[in-house]
Amino acid sequence: MGEVTIGGAKNAALGILAAAILTDEEVTIDNLPDVRDINVLLEAMEDIGAKVERKGRHVVRIRGNSIDSIHVDGEFVRRIRASYYLLGALLGKYRRAEVALPGGCDIGCRPIDQHLKGFRGLGARAEVEYGMVVAEAENLKGGHVYLDVVSVGATINIMLAAVLAEGNTILENAAKEPHIVDVANMLNSMGANIKGAGTDVIRIRGVERLHGTEYSIIPDQIEAGTFMLAAAVTRGDITVRNTIPKHLEAISAKLLEMGCEVVEFDDAVRVVGKPKLGSTHVKTLPYPGFPTDMQPQISVALALASGTSMVTESIFENRFKYVDELARMGAKIKVEGNVAVIDGIDHFMGTSLTAPDLRAGAALVLAGLAADGYTVVDEIKYIQRGYEDFDEKLRTLGAVIEQAEDEREMKRFKLRAM
Ligand code: UD1
Repeated sequence: MGEVTIGGAKNAALGILAAAILTDEEVTIDNLPDVRDINVLLEAMEDIGAKVERKGRHVVRIRGNSIDSIHVDGEFVRRIRASYYLLGALLGKYRRAEVALPGGCDIGCRPIDQHLKGFRGLGARAEVEYGMVVAEAENLKGGHVYLDVVSVGATINIMLAAVLAEGNTILENAAKEPHIVDVANMLNSMGANIKGAGTDVIRIRGVERLHGTEYSIIPDQIEAGTFMLAAAVTRGDITVRNTIPKHLEAISAKLLEMGCEVVEFDDAVRVVGKPKLGSTHVKTLPYPGFPTDMQPQISVALALASGTSMVTESIFENRFKYVDELARMGAKIKVEGNVAVIDGIDHFMGTSLTAPDLRAGAALVLAGLAADGYTVVDEIKYIQRGYEDFDEKLRTLGAVIEQAEDEREMKRFKLRAM
């Protein structure tokens, strides 16, 4: 039994940091998670001349008036996918942007055609040239953009450019994730005119300029969800504080179906795991559906449930790479195409594992917490991209987990059952 406090939403923060350079005035962002993806984006922003001043671990002050380059490149940029938000922001503010094609977690083919389609819809030229995405427009004009696939990144990127375009933009089939709403709220607090964020249709009236703001980021839905699943996997009792329970409904619904107890408070959720979990079926979908970023974590729980579960991944095709690792712990999972068929087992057996990406890495840690004996999770740099103090928070909840200092220097978590 224990409590954990959730930090600011990484994926909202990435859009919000890019938004901060749309004005020459000072922007202060609070509740910023101290994770690698965020720090890399801040580095990229400093690299093009923005002033970035850390006021505390979770507060940053940004001034975009000193930006002297619209060219974002460098090894660090390629390490994170969200560097592409600088495309929308620089195109909006300076009418030209050159950003290295993004990297990020290897969870499948991740095209950016919808981002480019959106920029073109605003009258810009947008092409990939020599490994760089180049977008430019003499006159950036509001337009009507219909997204062919619901994309979080494209929705945010188009909003970032459209807020400073001339005239009105209508963005149809937009993503509805909580972080879309958070980025829109932050932009509106800078003087933007965005309506409909959180629905399928977002309407943006371009304004001439934006002003400074102070903004606090919403809590991270996926960090919260991960700790909720930790309770299920370890048959624990965890109160997850500083959350917005509404954002967690899809996760809560599945936990209830599996027989867990879920109690919602104003800004907290308590999950009580049960000695034996029940099976269920899960299909990942854009919000408000079940998040793809929670798919590995729930699969770990289902691998310990009685009966057979089916998990369908409909957003990213390469998101079952952790299944081979779980099989080494004894899990019985068969993947066919984008469906994993999971036959629940009684317990995992600890062994050495390698984190294949951010969320799967966190899921393997959860599996280690429930396993007999010791588990070692390697390549935790992936986990550190998106979870602040993951090991420390789990320790507070009673887990036996430490960063192993071996010849590969603190790249592993070593865990024993909670
Ligand atoms: C964001 C999140 C990621 C999450 C994902 C889905 C960030 C930094 N990352 O990623 O953690 O897993 O949303 O909730 O916020 N697509 C295209 N063309 C495009 C863009 C996307 O075909 O131009 C496809 C993708 O291949 C994928 C689907 O659309 O199948 C959704 O992707 P998208 O919502 O864009 O994900 P990201 O913004 O990259």
